[in-house]
Amino acid sequence: MPVSNDDLFELVDAALAADYTRVRRVGSKIAGKLDDEDAARTLRTLIRRKGVPLRASGYAESLPVDGKSRLPLIEEQPWPTTPVFLSDANGAVVTSFLEDVRNADLLASKGLATRLSMLLAGPPGTGKTLLAGHIAAQLERPLYTVRLDSVISSLLGDTAKNIRSIFDFVPSREAVLFIDEMDAVAKVRDDRHELGELKRVVNTVIQGLDSLDDRAVVLAATNHPQLLDPAIWRRFPYKADLGAPDPSARTDLWRHFLFEADDGASQLAQTLATVSEGLSGADIQNIALSARRHAALTGGPIDVTAVVWAVLRSREGLLTLPSRSGIPADHRRELAQHLSGVAVKAADIARLLGVTRQTVGAYLKEPGHAAG
Ligand SMILES: Nc1ncnc2c1ncn2[C@@H]1O[C@H](COP(=O)(O)OP(=O)(O)OP(=O)(O)O)[C@@H](O)[C@H]1O
Ligand SMILES: [Mg+2]
Repeated sequence: MPVSNDDLFELVDAALAADYTRVRRVGSKIAGKLDDEDAARTLRTLIRRKGVPLRASGYAESLPVDGKSRLPLIEEQPWPTTPVFLSDANGAVVTSFLEDVRNADLLASKGLATRLSMLLAGPPGTGKTLLAGHIAAQLERPLYTVRLDSVISSLLGDTAKNIRSIFDFVPSREAVLFIDEMDAVAKVRDDRHELGELKRVVNTVIQGLDSLDDRAVVLAATNHPQLLDPAIWRRFPYKADLGAPDPSARTDLWRHFLFEADDGASQLAQTLATVSEGLSGADIQNIALSARRHAALTGGPIDVTAVVWAVLRSREGLLTLPSRSGIPADHRRELAQHLSGVAVKAADIARLLGVTRQTVGAYLKEPGHAAG
């Protein structure tokens, strides 16, 4: 479909008004109309870039700030540029959430309005913040992330005031409000032994959530859902428990971050998924990108053996990046034996270690291998 003059006029108008939200919305509309896939992708990447701070363009930013420190209480974050991989169950929750947000008016007309708020729970590095960005991008709304550090670190008593000014501000924009690290509010209780203050804060959050109209979209993320006040918990009808990625999400993560979506490497990605149970998406990303950086710097292939070694070490606790000086033969033997112990097939072990099946057979026969 051709790009219309109206689209162009609107784009220029939005750009000159320094209205990034509208620039992104029109930009993504135009991208949808382009026949040239590459051009559409380039445009989508461009509109995800963070705009220059509006102050620099002489346009006074009106985001709420803490009264004393003048630090912003919320910040507009750019939409993410990397994909998010979810388990089927979480994917379904997100899809139905998006569907209900998009059809909020219709649902309300049938008396089926609901709070459009979703809680993202899960350990560190499982993609909560990333997913919040994706939800905003899917809805083509700006993502306003609450800076709990500036909200809370202010003088006692001002916290509630800050929270109130955030919730007063939100309805003026069609945005996604994202309360990241929601449990930081719960931490106040431990740090300050100031129960009265905490109670006030929680009440203000509840009041704030209740004051929003049916079209407001609120996301909250937490590493410690069990610490949240039940009254807050109840105000988030949609919940996604991100947890460590499941085997299919791990396969996608390896395929994307290590093999750049190369179909020829699906088998390797699957085997890596088998051995990387328990690692978070962020762990897999860190290990994969480190291996790719090394390959890029030496001009050689990716050292998959070093990746497997790092994965197995990381599963024992602390994240370990792939060694850049190669994996010695006795470590290869140890790896082969370990992989065989977790039921990886000999052919797959050979592929992972970059050796022949005969060599794998020899490794497995050597002493130290418990399984017969
Ligand atoms: N499920 C996933 N799909 C794709 N990428 C992921 C996933 N999980 C983690 N990542 C990668 O790890 C990075 C860190 O994830 P993110 O910041 O979203 O984690 P988080 O759950 O918000 O962690 P924290 O609790 O520490 O804030 C992401 O930017 C992404 O590159
Ligand atoms: Mg996060």
